[in-house]
Amino acid sequence: MTRAAVIGTGHYVPDRVVTNDELTRWMNTSDEWITQRSGIRERRWVETDADGKVTETGAEMGAKAARAAMDQAQVAPEEIDLVIYATLNPDCFFPGNGVFIEDLLGLKTAGAMDIRNQCSGFVYGLAAADGFIRAGTARTVLLIGGEIQSTALNLSTQGREMAVLFGDGAGAVVVQATDDTDRGVLASVLHSQGRFAKDLWLEAPTALVRERINQDLIDQGRHYPTMDGKLVFKHATRRFCEAIGAVLEKGGHTIDEVDLLVPHQANQRITEAVGARVGLPPEKVFSNIAKYGNTTAATIPIALSEAAAAGRLESGDLVVTVAFGSGFTWGANLIRW
Ligand SMILES: CC(C)(COP(=O)(O)OP(=O)(O)OC[C@H]1O[C@@H](n2cnc3c(N)ncnc32)[C@H](O)[C@@H]1OP(=O)(O)O)[C@@H](O)C(=O)NCCC(=O)NCCS
Repeated sequence: MTRAAVIGTGHYVPDRVVTNDELTRWMNTSDEWITQRSGIRERRWVETDADGKVTETGAEMGAKAARAAMDQAQVAPEEIDLVIYATLNPDCFFPGNGVFIEDLLGLKTAGAMDIRNQCSGFVYGLAAADGFIRAGTARTVLLIGGEIQSTALNLSTQGREMAVLFGDGAGAVVVQATDDTDRGVLASVLHSQGRFAKDLWLEAPTALVRERINQDLIDQGRHYPTMDGKLVFKHATRRFCEAIGAVLEKGGHTIDEVDLLVPHQANQRITEAVGARVGLPPEKVFSNIAKYGNTTAATIPIALSEAAAAGRLESGDLVVTVAFGSGFTWGANLIRW
């Protein structure tokens, strides 16, 4: 039986650190409010020039993360069969960022696709990579999560509930076929509930309006992401726990066997509540939200890369990745590292 093993991780975040205090330049907020409510102390933003244009693209960030993962995996560009790029912030409406990565990395016409599943994009992407590998469609998959969120945020006090939470960055993993049945993705669970689609969304630009964007949409702030924070918090906490239980059951394991839980980093209070509810001690629950905020699809691969670098992911470890986000969509992967 073929399994899909994670054989390399990498990440890249922009140099520019934006502290909570810096945000008070634009909006009525405080370090105390942000730290207490979310656990976030700072985040990274891409630099912008005098015209507001970014100095590096999402695809360029993704390519840097991917190169690091490929170096660690000792995989050459010719070996990559498929690029899966997870994001809610593609550099353009179409094509997806996967093809820009293919070109930047010189991947010699490898297949490329984007997954638009927001915060759960990496979990969906890993399930897809696993499926493609086990079906024989691909042998080596480059899975990247990358986001430029900073250019979308409403930095006025009106937008503060969203703006303080999100950051930019990219993470990547190389996933490869192995005959070692004790290793790799053991199970995944994927879910959605579209009736909550508009409770965490970004409406415009939209194909439903001629020219895709107009002054009315901008005047009404409908080009900014919005959410019902309390509703998201409540659903996220519940669905994280359900997904962890379901993926463990599907893979035939129990919570006591888990070496590391790598949850999507939406809010430190969510992470702590989930860890406590599923019965994992804090040292088995990875957290880096204080440094990066919520980097959406990039969160889990950045966390995996940091956890691996810190020696917290050893060969043979049982790892659960779990995410919840806009859609609502959520899911989990169970991985034997
Ligand atoms: C957004 C979130 C941090 C808010 O925390 P909370 O404990 O629910 O906050 P509360 O609703 O109790 O407090 C809101 C109050 O703080 C104010 N507030 C909101 N953002 C603020 C900010 N950045 N700075 C200061 N005050 C802020 C609100 O205006 C409100 O004031 P009011 O009570 O006078 O109306 C929290 O709901 C959350 O994390 N939700 C999930 C969001 C998420 O993860 N989204 C991505 C999905 S993956």
